[in-house]
Amino acid sequence: MSRGVGLARVILPDVPFADRFPLIPGPSPLHPLPALSPELGLDLWIKRDDLLGFGGGGNKVRKVERLLGRALRDGAEAVVACGSRQSNFLRVLAAGCRRAGLRCEAVVMDMPFEPPARPAFRPPTSGGNADLAGLFGARFHALPDGSWEELDEARRRLAARLKEEGARVMEISVGGSSAEGVQAFVEAAAEIGEGFDFVVHASSSGSTQVGLSHAFRGTRTQVIGIACDPEPEMAHDLAALSSQFSAASGSLPMTADEFDFRLGWEGEGYNIPSPEGQAAIRRMAQSEGILLDPIYSAKAFAALLDLAKEGSLTGRVCFWHTGGLPNLFAFGIPGQSTE
Ligand SMILES: Cc1ncc(COP(=O)(O)O)c(C=O)c1O
Repeated sequence: MSRGVGLARVILPDVPFADRFPLIPGPSPLHPLPALSPELGLDLWIKRDDLLGFGGGGNKVRKVERLLGRALRDGAEAVVACGSRQSNFLRVLAAGCRRAGLRCEAVVMDMPFEPPARPAFRPPTSGGNADLAGLFGARFHALPDGSWEELDEARRRLAARLKEEGARVMEISVGGSSAEGVQAFVEAAAEIGEGFDFVVHASSSGSTQVGLSHAFRGTRTQVIGIACDPEPEMAHDLAALSSQFSAASGSLPMTADEFDFRLGWEGEGYNIPSPEGQAAIRRMAQSEGILLDPIYSAKAFAALLDLAKEGSLTGRVCFWHTGGLPNLFAFGIPGQSTE
């Protein structure tokens, strides 16, 4: 298996972050996609964070290493997080806490949403990540559906209550997107080097995009984050996260318009599979034998297919597979029919 298409010259800031709590044995695989490349007229590669392995894999393993490094350094005995019941992040965080000997407490909703649109879609409440987080010993505090802000507020209340009871608690932001999460992806960028014209990936809570964009700033590589949530103001959240990272690392912050964040493939919304994404799952499975998840990587790959078709992607392109596989089983495997 090939590893890299040029030695990494990506600039790593000398950052005073806490140590990593190691969960990943080495770089995730990077390899060409020989069937899709000629079909799309690209030199198309895939970065396999889905194969990171620990706790079922995915991009979140990189963030969890850093977050648990801080939790252990600060002497925490429990982490308090929040998310959707089918969150990949909560699954991996729960597995990491098991390894680190920490308690994992999380406030969950089946379908947190961005007001005013409360989606009618009901995601599965069992199977997939929900059951795996339980297997890894996470303690879920379930709330009726509400906004992301309400979910985050409930997380803060839970943390305050546990602190009052005497627990040493570390609070973790949605999706693990913090300066540590960004740092994890600044470092990950070095695994593929500077040989790509484009990197395309799923973007949601932001640290994957902010980290990769910081790492490739000023290089030939253009990072394109594909929205999985219908939130046009997300570019401003990316800029805010960049400022947070810059304050911790001393690097120059990026402004909202420096991020290439694309809406248009999120379908009906977060946690809702889209027809284009389901078609993208079939295409990847049937041409390359690789599985995508319906909530993140399928939507990002659907975007890549469209961008290639319209000629906006050219040359050497890396699809960064961010994982999420358990949800393919929870939400259902797309059949042969065209949706
Ligand atoms: C499988 C998968 N891909 C992509 C993302 C998006 O990553 P980020 O939250 O860093 O934007 C997530 C996070 O929710 C995820 O679980």
